Amino acid sequence: MQASAQTDQSTAFDLLAWYDRHARRLPWRSPPGTPPPAAYRVWLSEVMLQQTTVAAVQPYFARFVARWPDVAALAQADEADVMAAWAGLGYYSRARNLIACARAVATLGGFPDTEAGLRALPGLGAYTAAAVAAIAFGARAVVVDANVERVVARLFAITAPLPGSRPAIRACADTITPDARAGDFAQAMMDLGATVCTARNPRCIICPLRGRCRAYADGIAASLPVKAAKKAKPHRIGHAWWIERDGKVWLVRRAGKGMLGGMRALPDDGWNARSDGDGVPPFAGAWRVAGVVRHGFTHFDLDLQLMLCDHAEMGQSLPGEGAGEFWPIDAIELAGLPTVFAKAARIAVAGL
Ligand code: ADE
Repeated sequence: MQASAQTDQSTAFDLLAWYDRHARRLPWRSPPGTPPPAAYRVWLSEVMLQQTTVAAVQPYFARFVARWPDVAALAQADEADVMAAWAGLGYYSRARNLIACARAVATLGGFPDTEAGLRALPGLGAYTAAAVAAIAFGARAVVVDANVERVVARLFAITAPLPGSRPAIRACADTITPDARAGDFAQAMMDLGATVCTARNPRCIICPLRGRCRAYADGIAASLPVKAAKKAKPHRIGHAWWIERDGKVWLVRRAGKGMLGGMRALPDDGWNARSDGDGVPPFAGAWRVAGVVRHGFTHFDLDLQLMLCDHAEMGQSLPGEGAGEFWPIDAIELAGLPTVFAKAARIAVAGL
């Protein structure tokens, strides 16, 4: 157990009383005050919930636990199946890390039950280790996600901008983290942030912590946390190639650990966060524009031109041969394409 720097149990007391009545019922949770869910479900949900909304995660979580009900099952899964099941959730390095972590846990014979033990697993960052330690094992851990960051910045009226204020926010969160019901407390903070202490139009009037909130007292709750100005996202241009034969389309598997690495995809012209694609088709032919997909990635926006070539031109060698396959177009939604390519496929299918 982590040493407690706390002086204040009463904030947690009030918040937990609120949570007992208002906790969101979510498929990876146990109701307040009841034994915790299996660590597998907590870990899987926490990985999925990073940078992704509760609404978007729910159907993915349901499909994953139906197909891979425990960590041993996931450890034995085919990597390509896991990547395809993740398609559409984004941040695909999470899926690659998920498999590596499941295999490490299976080798250990189960999840470690301490924050430090969890942190040592592949791909498990400080946030996830703290969240799993608290929620699955009841360990006292300081769990700070974006919702919690906002609640704490307001409670303590921390006006310095993020991300520089993160250590101060964490230190303040530590002072109100209780020794008991650590998992309920962490999730209560998340729920308060998601439903009451919202980014826009916070509902201070119904907040169980209003009387302790320095930002509320100062009339500045809605303006916190302050965020440092973001750099403008670069705009990239690229092409994807729709190569069709006998009702099937040529798909490749993207290499490496970079963006969308390991995912099935349309072949493309090499665009990435730092540069446009080269625009050079994989073989000469009468290529025509089928449409343009606009997609926002974390670090750049992409205009992706989808190019089609007539069937008669197809005698040539195919891009990424060996790491590719012809996939039936009428089952394209089963290919597990990441969203940018799923959008492109929809354009192509609509125009066929
Ligand atoms: N966001 C991240 N973890 C969460 C959880 N356990 N419950 C609800 N929202 C979350």
